[in-house]
Amino acid sequence: MFTKDHKLIAPSILAADFARLADEVGRVEAAGADVIHVDVMDGHFVPNLTMGPVVVEWLRKVTDLPLDCHLMITDPDRYIPEFVAAGADCITVHQEACPHLHRTLQLIREEGARAGRVVMTGVSVNPATPVETLSEILPDCDLVLVMSVNPGFGGQRFIPGALEKIRKVRRMADARGLSLYLEVDGGIKADNIAEVAKAGADVFVAGSAIFGGQDYAARIGAMKAVI
Ligand code: DX5
Ligand code: ZN
Repeated sequence: MFTKDHKLIAPSILAADFARLADEVGRVEAAGADVIHVDVMDGHFVPNLTMGPVVVEWLRKVTDLPLDCHLMITDPDRYIPEFVAAGADCITVHQEACPHLHRTLQLIREEGARAGRVVMTGVSVNPATPVETLSEILPDCDLVLVMSVNPGFGGQRFIPGALEKIRKVRRMADARGLSLYLEVDGGIKADNIAEVAKAGADVFVAGSAIFGGQDYAARIGAMKAVI
C-alpha cells in the first residue's frame, strides 16, 4: 500500500541503468523516492518491450518501497496472478486494454487476498481517452493514472491537456467522497510538477527527470520542494 500522508514521487526505472538495477533502486530510495514505478510493455499494446514479473520478483528482494506496476499490455488478466505473486503492491491496467475492466480489478483484489495482502487496483487512461469513461469504475479504483504522454517510451514531452483531465478526475472523486490516489505519468519535471500537483495529482512518476542526471537527491528534492 502507498502511504497518503504526503505527495509521492515515483521514479520510473525505465530510465535507470538496467545493468545495475538494484543499485539504482537503492540510490533513488536513499534520495527520497516514495514508490518504485515499473513500466511493463508487451510490444503489442505499446510499441516497445520492457520487463515482466521476474524483474518485480528481484526488485522485491532489494527494496521495501511499494512496487507500482504499470501494465501497458493487452490481456493483463493473464499476467496479474504472476505480478501479485512476484510482490507488486499496486497493479495498474489500461482502460483501453480491458473490455471487462470491473472483472480485471476484482482479479487484482482476489489475487492479493489469496497472497495475504492488499494489492491496490489502478486504472490508466491514454491521452486520447476521456476520463468520463471511468465514471462507473471509479469506486473500484484505489488509483487512477492519467497518462501525460502516449505510453511506450520515456523522455517525451508533457501533453498539457492532461491537466484538465487531472482536475476532472479529482472533481469526480471528490463529488462521490472517494479518496483515490491520482497519479500522473510522462514528461514530469521539476519545472512543471507544481502545476500538476495544483491540478490535483498526488503521485508523480518521473523517469528521465530523475535518472537523467547524477544527483538523484537533488533532482527528487527539487520536485518535492514545489509540490
Ligand atoms: C511511458 C511510461 C512512463 C515513462 C516516464 O510509457 O509509462 O512511466 O517511463 O518517463 P519520463 O518521465 O521520462 O517521461
Ligand atoms: Zn508508467
